[in-house]
Amino acid sequence: MDKVIIFDTTLRDGEQAAGGTLNVQEKLEIACQLEKLGVDVIEAGFPASSPGDFEAVGLISKEIKSSSVCALTHANFNAVDRAWEAVKGAAHPRIHIFLSASDIHLIHQLKKSRDEIMKMACDTVARGRGYTSDIEFSPMDASRTEPEYLYQILRAVIDAGATTVNIPDTVGYAVPAEFGRLIEGIFKNVGNIHKAVVSVHCHNDLGLAVANSLEAVRHGARQVECTINGIGERAGNASLEEIVMAIRTRQDAFNLTTGIDTGQIYRTSRLVSELTGFPVQPNKAIVGANAFRHESGIHQDGVIKMPITYEIIDPRTVGIPSSSLVLGKLSGRHAFKQRLSELGYTLSEEDLNRAFTAFKELADKKKHVTDRDIESLVAEEQRTVSEEYHLDRLQVTCGDRGIPTAAVRLIGPDGKTLEDAALGTGPVDAVYKAINRLVKLPNSLTEFTVKSVTEGIDAIGEVLIRIESNGVTYTGRGADTDIIVSSAKAYINALNRLLAARGRSG
Ligand code: KIV
Ligand code: ZN
Repeated sequence: MDKVIIFDTTLRDGEQAAGGTLNVQEKLEIACQLEKLGVDVIEAGFPASSPGDFEAVGLISKEIKSSSVCALTHANFNAVDRAWEAVKGAAHPRIHIFLSASDIHLIHQLKKSRDEIMKMACDTVARGRGYTSDIEFSPMDASRTEPEYLYQILRAVIDAGATTVNIPDTVGYAVPAEFGRLIEGIFKNVGNIHKAVVSVHCHNDLGLAVANSLEAVRHGARQVECTINGIGERAGNASLEEIVMAIRTRQDAFNLTTGIDTGQIYRTSRLVSELTGFPVQPNKAIVGANAFRHESGIHQDGVIKMPITYEIIDPRTVGIPSSSLVLGKLSGRHAFKQRLSELGYTLSEEDLNRAFTAFKELADKKKHVTDRDIESLVAEEQRTVSEEYHLDRLQVTCGDRGIPTAAVRLIGPDGKTLEDAALGTGPVDAVYKAINRLVKLPNSLTEFTVKSVTEGIDAIGEVLIRIESNGVTYTGRGADTDIIVSSAKAYINALNRLLAARGRSG
């Protein structure tokens, strides 16, 4: 069976999603999980776009051993050099050069002729080849490019040394039959196409990214560019989990395979959602909360008798925990560690100790601690690492008569204790005002959402916020059984990210 190369661009196109900024450590954490997932190529960032991206690509390149690490670049020599500088430490480095090819882009955006574009493409591919033998070229907006010109540019870049040619449906305009014909046309009309891997990169503006990618695969494409949970620019990219599970579940239709360890899919989806702050919609295929829940009596009856009646995928295949084992306050460290490992977490001794203490505190407040509680708790613990400010104490008075008042104690830089209090229009407003008096980082709150992670009155409440400072958005999350505490933690988390980003850019 032929293998489809899975090229994950969660850290590049995924991070381009509005409001989805990740810090360097978070990118590294996702990259390590993608490697565990078994993706063939990790597009780690766009080094010329920001110092943060340059640093992240460099760090990921040093850490990742089995997946290729790819750096995206514009088609100019300086940017190609910078991409190489960032990715050269990787065990398997790749440079990915992109340049618009459609007349729409050439006339209205780049104001360049087709010949000029052709030359820029070939020159920069050759420049990249001087650094590494793994070069990918993307003629941007390929699905709206005149096919004859597209064939010419592909022939030329392959002659110049491109080893992968990627066909982007940049604006999500294609429909499956037409996109399949485009790929077929490329195989028929580009004489040297056998010297390169044909890749596709589909956006989801019409909700067709996965369908278009699969149709391309049916016509011979052997690399698919995709993201976890389908996040990405505008409506997002093709979702990795849907592509992989379609190929696996419908082997009869595709007769293809991927190198993905599907048991890591759920865990990866949760991590990406957690760190980007983009929730997964409940009805999302493969990883949504309802994807394997059966509500109607007829369906439940069928699944009890034989799961295959209404379930085309065993949820355990994608790593959805099936255990009904519930931990409580009498559960010991060993049971806790065991459950963590079943959920796919391997923590250092120090992290395990911290997580166990948090688990015990939670078990005191909550009778049954479920898998979702544990995941949320571990994520919460991981968030508190390398914080400049940490919430130590919080006291709030509110109600329909009094003036909402908050007193806050933070542990700040160098372990210094900082305390202040403020009045607000509501308890969260009072808390945020008190924190502002201590941290003094001007920003505006652009989004505030609260959701319950688990069921019941004692559920953990998770708060997601976004703040904006100097035109940049920072996400913060916090979880606790008390939603005012979650709100304070989320705000401090966002402020810490803002501070970390400022520190990086000097
Ligand atoms: O959508 C697109 O065309 C891209 C390219 C950089 C491959 O993201
Ligand atoms: Zn894209």
